[in-house]
This record gives sequence, C-alpha cells and structure tokens, in this order.
Amino acid sequence: MGNVHVLDHPLIQHKLSYIRNKHTGTKEFRELVDEVAMLMAFEITRDLPLTETTIETPVTTANTKVLAGKKIGLIPILRAGLGMVDGMLKLIPAAKVGHVGLYRDPETLKPVEYYIKLPSDIEERELIVIDPMLATGGSANDAIQSLKKRGAKNIRLMCLIAAPEGVESVKQEHPDVDIYLAALDEKLDDHAYIVPGLGDAGDRLFGTK
Ligand code: URA
Repeated sequence: MGNVHVLDHPLIQHKLSYIRNKHTGTKEFRELVDEVAMLMAFEITRDLPLTETTIETPVTTANTKVLAGKKIGLIPILRAGLGMVDGMLKLIPAAKVGHVGLYRDPETLKPVEYYIKLPSDIEERELIVIDPMLATGGSANDAIQSLKKRGAKNIRLMCLIAAPEGVESVKQEHPDVDIYLAALDEKLDDHAYIVPGLGDAGDRLFGTK
C-alpha cells in the first residue's frame, strides 16, 4: 500500500498558513507556493540513490557521493499543478516536465484527456505527479492511470493539501503510489472544496475567478 507522507517541516507549515489565508494576494500566493514546492522537493527526493565518486579537492583526493542518475519527470496536472513546477525545478533542474490536462465528462463521468505531452522515456523515470489540491482524488487517479497506460512504472503524487477522502481514493486505486502532502485537512464540503483548505488553487495562483 502506498505511504502517505505529511511533510511537516516548520518552514513548510509556516508558509502554508500564509497560503491558506484569504487575505494573501495573488503575487504573494504564487511566491509562497513556489517556495513550498521547493521545500517539498527537498523532502521528496530524500531517498534518491547515491553513488560513490572520487574527486580532487584543493587539499587531497576524496571519495564522495553524487546522485546515481535516477531520472525524474515532473507531471503537473493542468492548471493548478503548474504553480508548483518552478519551485521543484530549482532543486531538480535536470527533471523533464510532462503535462496532463483532463476533465470529467459531466454525462458519462469518464475522464476526458484534453492535453497530454510527456517525456518519451517515462517508463524509465521516477514520475512526480503534481496537483496542489487532492480533493476527491478523481483527477489524480485519472492522471496516474493515464501515465500507467503509457508505461509509467514509478509514480509519486505531490499535493499541498489533501482531504482524507482523496487520500483514501488514491490509496485504493493506486496502492503503489506514495503520496506527499504539506497538510492533511479535515474533510470536503458539499462542493468538494477542501476544509479548511485554501479555496480554489488555480484561481488563487492565476488571479482568476
Ligand atoms: N480544488 C481546489 O482548488 N480547491 C479545493 O478545495 C478542492 C479542489
């Protein structure tokens, strides 16, 4: 069963309080999401494999460690996922970025993929699916399914805030996927907004309404 990691670093929690605050404007909201994404990237990459190397320091020869070269792919779900990509890339600049855009057909309730563009070698990459809000789990589940259908084998899910309902749903549908969160909130309201949450992440990031 996939693990749920709540990244409760004090800096993440502090910044998340400002992100949640309805008085935080678009510019500051965007900057804070970027910063939290960077801090989360630090935690998510904790288990990346290392390999030994030998280098010359100005003083001596030293055996040190470098990343073993595991390839990373960031997959933001459009559109709110975009707000966390730059922060992640600050720490993982060599990552490739794929995009998934989907919505649910209101009649069939089936996911409709209106956009997908992925790195050509997703089966070799550790993919991090990014969506700030894990509410019902519908979009995350559909995006993950879409990646698996195209050969993805190693997938993690990264969200700012999740509702218990969303976490349970992803755990049921994709038990192999580890979930990384800055906070696990109380519940969903009748409109599938996360409570207490932060409102509509896309609107707050892009200043729309
Ligand atoms: N999407 C959002 O942007 N906010 C929520 O609370 C739930 C889904």
